Amino acid sequence: MKKNVALIILICFLALGVFGQQTSVVFAASAGQDPAPTATPDTSNPHRAGECLGCHGLPGMKGRTANDEIVSLYIQPAEHEVNFHTQAGVGCKFCHLDQGEYPHASSSFATCSVCHGMNGEKVDKTAELIFTLPYQDPREFTLSFNDACSQCHQEKYDQVAESVHTRLAEAGNKYAPMCVDCHGAHAISEANRQTQSAICKKCHEGEYNQYKDSVHGAALEDEANPDVPTCGGCHGSHAVKGPSNTDFRQIAATEICGKCHSDPAVMEKYGISTDVMGTYLEDVHGKTNIMGRVNRLDEVKATCYDCHGVHNILSPSNPYSSVYPSNLQATCAQCHQNAGIQFPAAWLSHKKPELATMPLLYAVNNYSLAVVVIVLLLAGLWVILDLRRANAVQVYKNEQGQE
Ligand code: HEC
Ligand code: HEC
Ligand code: HEC
Ligand code: HEC
Ligand code: HEC
Ligand code: HEC
Ligand code: HEC
Ligand code: HEC
Ligand code: HEC
Ligand code: HEC
Repeated sequence: MKKNVALIILICFLALGVFGQQTSVVFAASAGQDPAPTATPDTSNPHRAGECLGCHGLPGMKGRTANDEIVSLYIQPAEHEVNFHTQAGVGCKFCHLDQGEYPHASSSFATCSVCHGMNGEKVDKTAELIFTLPYQDPREFTLSFNDACSQCHQEKYDQVAESVHTRLAEAGNKYAPMCVDCHGAHAISEANRQTQSAICKKCHEGEYNQYKDSVHGAALEDEANPDVPTCGGCHGSHAVKGPSNTDFRQIAATEICGKCHSDPAVMEKYGISTDVMGTYLEDVHGKTNIMGRVNRLDEVKATCYDCHGVHNILSPSNPYSSVYPSNLQATCAQCHQNAGIQFPAAWLSHKKPELATMPLLYAVNNYSLAVVVIVLLLAGLWVILDLRRANAVQVYKNEQGQE
């Protein structure tokens, strides 16, 4: 389909080249604006107004970077038309501020003869045309256009600036993803929940392959489930966070998993308990999370994903799940080296001790709570009585002193 459109446009283009002797015809057809009005129209360079596809629609247009690599300078007219920005009215010049006219501000020289020949011959539209580009390599070339997006999407820049990806870039990794790596430049398509993992997959295929079979990923890919996390749901799409953020282990439980798993409006639909976060924070493992917050420890022991897995999380009733009863001992043994077969039973799991299910523990818990409360109350009373007495003694002494 796309190919056909491209072909038709190409044929029209060629036909115009043959029949349209005057440039005005050619460039009117190659989509763009009218030439800027000048006092004495300069006909020697009809390209000055910069109609782009007149030249960049030539399939043989290429550029050579300083390190001798070749990049294509050809823009497929069909691709341009389906481009999201074209449809939103964002034309070429919005992003290419330095190339609005020809010769481009970025051109090192106006190389008319490469296309027109030394004697102004007809342009051979099938020829390979290689131009020298003022960039070290193709990556520098790409990066030089990254700021173009900021004119209109500044808030995304601010978010990306906080990401682990930007820290990679700052540390010298020039392949850390920029706007154009994730979105493309010309064929920018819709970016939403459904297309998200495809974007991250470009560079993180290993994580994606695990994710797509997990309880979260399978629901997204197979059923377009609106509630499960995408890659960005756990990491953020622009302000991406990951394990190299020192607080990542801490926020994983409460802000990442807990955000959904303690929300009854979401979990009710799937019949999944929302006690998981509360019970975690109350048990011995979750306590280190709370202590970590207070004392700024970065080593939080047993967070949700130590038991459940990360990108490969499965339902506990799935025999491949790391928390399936027969796998549980191995899961605990990652940290509790000598954990025997009975060890998992030493832990309450995500269950709250309740009168009906665990009467003894419930009684012990409540008994100790009651004892603590009563002792504190008695102590408080004692302090108050003592203060009152001390006060009375002082008043008496003062009166004696005055006499
Ligand atoms: C007369 C032909 C011609 C027209 C018209 C033209 N270009 Fe170019 N363009 C070139 C050539 C030749 C190069 C190769 C490098 C150079 O000479 O600047 C180039 C290079 C580029 C580059 C590569 C970056 C760089 O710095 O060289 C971009 C981007 C570009 N043009 C965009 C545009 C846009 C956008 C338009 C329309 C506003 C346009 N061009 C119109 C001939 C043209
Ligand atoms: C939304 C911003 C945006 C718009 C609109 C846009 N470009 Fe680009 N263009 C870019 C970016 C970013 C790059 C660098 C991409 C890369 O190197 O992968 C680029 C690269 C190019 C190149 C170098 C070849 C290439 O594909 O990498 C040419 C030529 C070019 N653009 C011409 C055009 C023309 C002609 C139009 C209008 C039909 C246009 N651009 C519209 C952002 C844009
Ligand atoms: C990237 C290739 C390219 C470059 C570089 C280029 N032109 Fe053109 N030029 C074309 C194309 C394509 C046409 C359309 C006419 C055609 O189909 O042959 C054209 C048409 C023209 C015409 C109209 C007459 C004609 O041949 O049809 C003039 C005049 C012209 N160009 C002048 C210039 C000048 C002056 C420069 C240098 C400043 C220049 N061009 C650089 C590709 C180029
Ligand atoms: C690491 C990949 C990645 C990078 C880098 C990235 N994006 Fe995105 N972007 C996404 C994903 C995934 C979505 C869709 C999901 C979402 O909205 O969270 C998206 C959505 C968008 C949207 C549309 C949705 C919305 O929230 O309005 C815009 C506009 C956007 N990005 C612009 C940018 C700009 C501009 C940059 C560069 C500063 C950029 N993005 C950098 C991955 C990325
Ligand atoms: C001149 C302004 C302008 C520039 C420059 C610009 N955009 Fe956009 N962009 C828009 C407009 C307008 C929309 C559509 C309105 C909207 O939905 O926000 C849009 C929408 C988007 C979307 C969302 C598509 C969707 O799913 O809704 C993405 C992604 C995007 N732009 C990425 C980029 C990238 C990447 C660049 C730089 C290469 C860029 N934009 C440069 C104006 C611009
Ligand atoms: C349910 C939440 C969740 C989802 C969904 C998720 N991640 Fe992760 N991701 C994590 C956690 C938690 C870690 C930290 C693991 C660790 O410290 O070992 C992590 C680590 C990473 C890392 C660092 C390297 C590694 O494997 O430890 C990358 C890269 C990554 N994720 C990419 C992705 C991509 C790409 C997707 C989508 C296909 C994705 N993640 C989906 C939670 C998630
Ligand atoms: C153009 C390539 C590219 C794309 C696209 C990309 N990343 Fe990355 N990402 C990297 C590189 C390179 C690293 C550093 C090496 C590594 O940890 O794998 C990285 C690292 C990460 C890390 C680990 C950071 C840490 O703390 O160690 C996470 C998490 C991550 N990316 C998430 C994402 C998500 C989510 C998306 C999609 C929205 C995405 N990435 C898209 C290239 C990319
Ligand atoms: C964006 C919300 C969201 C986030 C974030 C999230 N989950 Fe989930 N999770 C869900 C939904 C919705 C389901 C149910 C999917 C289904 O059954 O189709 C689910 C299912 C599960 C299940 C399977 C439960 C069962 O009984 O089948 C486990 C285990 C799980 N998640 C653990 C985690 C862990 C651990 C994290 C953090 C690393 C996490 N989730 C992050 C929404 C989320
Ligand atoms: C020490 C290991 C461990 C930790 C830490 C842990 N879990 Fe679990 N989780 C389990 C086990 C074992 C089960 C299965 C038995 C059960 O449901 O109690 C389970 C079950 C679940 C279920 C399924 C509940 C249902 O109703 O089907 C979800 C969802 C869940 N955990 C999420 C979490 C979240 C979110 C965290 C962090 C706040 C977390 N888990 C921390 C071991 C753990
Ligand atoms: C990531 C490491 C890790 C994993 C996995 C883990 N634990 Fe722990 N657990 C600890 C640490 C460390 C402590 C000591 C208390 C503390 O510092 O938080 C602890 C303490 C305990 C205690 C209190 C008694 C004691 O030995 O100190 C029990 C009971 C317990 N864990 C059960 C389990 C069970 C059951 C599993 C598997 C379902 C499990 N743990 C998985 C790290 C882990």
